[in-house]
Amino acid sequence: MSSPSRASFGSKFGIIMAAAGSAVGLGNIWRFPIETGQNGGAAFILIYIIAIALLGVPLMVAEFFIGRHAHTNAAHAYKKLSSHPFWSNIGFIGVLGGSLILCYYVVVAGWVLKYMFLSLDGTLSTLFTPGDASGYESLFGNFVSSTWSPLIFMVLFVLMCHFAIAAGVRKGIEKLSKIFMPALFVILVVLVGFSLFAPGAQEGLSFLFHPDFSKLTTSSVLSAIAQAFYSLSLCMGCLCTYASYFGKDVNIIKSAVSISVIDTLVAIMAGLIIFPAVFSAGISPQSGPSLAFIALPGAFQQAFGAVPAVAYIVSVLFYALLVLAALTSAISLYEVPTAYIHETWHIRRRYAALVVTAVCLMLGTVCSLSMGVLGDMHIFGKSVFDFLDYFCTTIMMPLSGVFIAIFLGWVVKRDIFMDDVTNGCTLRTTPAAVVHWLLRWVAPVLLFAAFLGVLGVI
Ligand code: PFF
Repeated sequence: MSSPSRASFGSKFGIIMAAAGSAVGLGNIWRFPIETGQNGGAAFILIYIIAIALLGVPLMVAEFFIGRHAHTNAAHAYKKLSSHPFWSNIGFIGVLGGSLILCYYVVVAGWVLKYMFLSLDGTLSTLFTPGDASGYESLFGNFVSSTWSPLIFMVLFVLMCHFAIAAGVRKGIEKLSKIFMPALFVILVVLVGFSLFAPGAQEGLSFLFHPDFSKLTTSSVLSAIAQAFYSLSLCMGCLCTYASYFGKDVNIIKSAVSISVIDTLVAIMAGLIIFPAVFSAGISPQSGPSLAFIALPGAFQQAFGAVPAVAYIVSVLFYALLVLAALTSAISLYEVPTAYIHETWHIRRRYAALVVTAVCLMLGTVCSLSMGVLGDMHIFGKSVFDFLDYFCTTIMMPLSGVFIAIFLGWVVKRDIFMDDVTNGCTLRTTPAAVVHWLLRWVAPVLLFAAFLGVLGVI
């Protein structure tokens, strides 16, 4: 399965950028503000940060440990730590889940790419009418329900991922992450700067930073956990696969903490860009999934309209930011089935990537068309797109999280974990012991309760 000449990352900076690239994505810039808006703002953020600390970091360490220890793809990695058929196969959940997420992720990424062009050619600014979002509403509605345009942009996006993956771990994934991630941070900082000067930005800031606990419900706690999992790319094979390319000298816990901090900062910075503009334009923060495509184009024009060049720049930069973020995350999702096929079927990486591209284009097409001509096709009362999102993020991710936590906490010998995570006892043991304790006692209980909550049992 794994070969001595297996690919690896070239530097620690490359590792952090690649893994942070997987984590930082549409989840931070598109999903996080939506969830925060719908779940009451700052109180949700607080629960989200607690979920990252108690569940996110330990599970990320667990996946890094499994991937690096086994030195092979996510599906085979668990087999190296347990020969029991149940435990040896839980890696498959990740490979399956990662592949399914990829198929609808590329659809939204295609929309983002289209909107980058629409802001570049000035369409988004010409459509602006103060106090009336109907122009943006029909633009978005007509676009996503049409047949060819979203498909063309999805195919473009898939091809970008394909070539990045086919180029290899160092020359593709690592090289691109080392360029895209710093570019993304620069764009973020520039946009936060602009947004803080939008008239009325104060209201957006207090929404983000003054918690109102009366708005918290069981369902917002569950949403915070689901969002933490999605945002950190947990339990879907990505982090395990990337860790299989780590060297033995990487400090796994330090890397997991750095990546979680970067990911959370980016999400909060996205909130700092979006909410001041949204409040300044008098739009409800609860706009939901359409926020980035219907409310925001107008919000940017309204907030910065006094200097049209600024409104134009902010709009172009925002969609460029989304494209960069989506690319590095989609690449990590692509790598999961690619590594699996490459190592299972013993075919070249390039051909494995071709298989993934073909399957992704087929399923992605169905997801894209489920907004239009296939709108009547339902699975459990949901469109194909909504069903995949619900099934992967609300069922597969926490379920896989419960299994991974139990596997690490109870099945794998503690000594193996401690020895590996401390790089052969050359690092401090306390952080590893705390992580092991959280994986053994806290994560399974919290995740199982969350899972029952999702099913409506509690
Ligand atoms: N973390 C990515 C984001 O925030 O957009 C999405 C994602 C990537 C989820 C990889 C799951 C995954 F395995």
